[in-house]
Amino acid sequence: MHAFTLVAASFAALAQAVPHALSHPNHHHHHHAARSTTLAPRDDTTFELTVHNNCTNSKTFGLYQITPAFEMLQMSHPIVIESGSSSCIQAPFTASGMRLSGTADQGCDGQWAAQTLFEFGYSTYLEMTGTAYDLSVMAGSAPEGIAAYPGTTLCESKVCDASGCSLAEAWTTPQQVGGGSPADTVCYQGVQDFHVVFCPQ
Ligand SMILES: *[C@@H]1O[C@H](CO)[C@@H](O)[C@H](O)[C@H]1NC(C)=O
Repeated sequence: MHAFTLVAASFAALAQAVPHALSHPNHHHHHHAARSTTLAPRDDTTFELTVHNNCTNSKTFGLYQITPAFEMLQMSHPIVIESGSSSCIQAPFTASGMRLSGTADQGCDGQWAAQTLFEFGYSTYLEMTGTAYDLSVMAGSAPEGIAAYPGTTLCESKVCDASGCSLAEAWTTPQQVGGGSPADTVCYQGVQDFHVVFCPQ
């Protein structure tokens, strides 16, 4: 929760600095939210993660981060996406150890359970920057499948349907480390959006 609290705190600090917002305390929150979405220029600190729920039931999605100390941090407000609908989540570009979960209704503690995930994190190599990403459907995950499509065709799409997939498409067992972790991919194309589908088949 630390990072999430920090973000909320800095939003509050920003709103305090806007005199207009202070003179309308009743509308403070709403007003500020509208300003930040309509006036903030597109920056290079986030990318858009469009999540499509193609499963038959609604699901609650959220971003989480596992810190080097193995703490689970909530990194976005959980959102419910109905079956057949899509929603966009702003994802931090330079963060490490990030994951999109479809069980955000289970809170931080529930995130350690085996589940279908889109995992991602910042990566740099020489002068290049980008996003490292993979799909994870380790043993115990619901057989629903997941697919990830980068915003540029220069980078690889990954698709793992409910019946399974090759080792290059998703993490299915920790033993893949021995095979060179073929599911791991990096898109060295700077800030790129991603489209992720749950239940892609
Ligand atoms: C959603 O699932 C249906 C089958 O249930 C499939 O035909 C369709 O291609 C899927 N959509 C996406 C975006 O994967």
